[in-house]
Amino acid sequence: MDRRIITTGKKNEDAELEPKLRPQSLDTYIGQEKVKENMRVYIEAAKKRGESLDHILLYGPPGLGKTTLSNIIANEMHTNIKTTSGPAIERPGDMAAVLSNLGEGDILFIDEIHRLNRVVEEVLYPAMEDNVLDIVLGKGHETRSIRIDLPKFTLIGATTRIGLLTAPLRDRFGIINRLELYNEQQLKQIILRSANVLDTQIDEDGALELARRSRGTPRIANRFLKRVRDFALVKYNGVITEQVARESLDILEVDKDGLDAADRNMLLAMIEKFDGGPVGLETIAVSIGEEADTIEDVYEPYLIQLGFIKRTPRGRVVTELGYRHFGLSVFR
Ligand code: ADE
Repeated sequence: MDRRIITTGKKNEDAELEPKLRPQSLDTYIGQEKVKENMRVYIEAAKKRGESLDHILLYGPPGLGKTTLSNIIANEMHTNIKTTSGPAIERPGDMAAVLSNLGEGDILFIDEIHRLNRVVEEVLYPAMEDNVLDIVLGKGHETRSIRIDLPKFTLIGATTRIGLLTAPLRDRFGIINRLELYNEQQLKQIILRSANVLDTQIDEDGALELARRSRGTPRIANRFLKRVRDFALVKYNGVITEQVARESLDILEVDKDGLDAADRNMLLAMIEKFDGGPVGLETIAVSIGEEADTIEDVYEPYLIQLGFIKRTPRGRVVTELGYRHFGLSVFR
């Protein structure tokens, strides 16, 4: 099977472990129960009809398994998957090349699909809708277009920012799934499974401590597991217990709720400079020297899940719980 994956970055031990940690089937994929339940139905229906799946949009914070899930869908459909990303497709011709290389029933996975530019996006519309490629030839008065038939394919788009998708693109997806942050028990299961794959010994309490500090995100849980496993090997007897997990993550400056230095910096800036808010996203961004997008995608979902901040029409506000995290109390 042709499973071309476009990857960037250099190979190292972590990069080689990465594919092994990814589950290959819906049955071994932990969490996202609603999404799995729905996808099982759509996959079975498509197979019964002998058709390809409708186009699928996956959205949610980074690190929750959008790529993993896409590969699983391809496995379950017994089809090829070709992977690319929004920023990698710069011109309409690039998109035409990607589309015309697809085989019948293939899945095309486009990561960060919100970063496709408009002219490139327009090549996708007729492809998604009618399985054709409209190619414009010539310039000025001399233009004419030719139409090329494409095989039936399924587009899976992934994005952290559904709000940035244009309406015409969003409307062409028949299946829209939102991935949610994972709870502690689900992360614990993922960590136990990953430890098993990595041949690392960990006890239940060690896994739970790691889960608590992984901010709802399997990618972070797996990253911490690999680091804590290093500490366990070098400083302890190799087994990850609650104490080993706690002490190692303390060294990595990840606190008991999973906040890192950047999260704490943002919360403290909101408390100290803006009396806990309400304060606008852009203002927070400027005050801590961070992109507003990063705050919205990366920091905020978890801080909101913990109940440390909330969104109001007038801006972001640090809650009582957020103050208490630092041993402070609110007085507004
Ligand atoms: N590794 C990363 N995400 C996972 C998930 N949802 N289930 C099992 N293992 C995972």
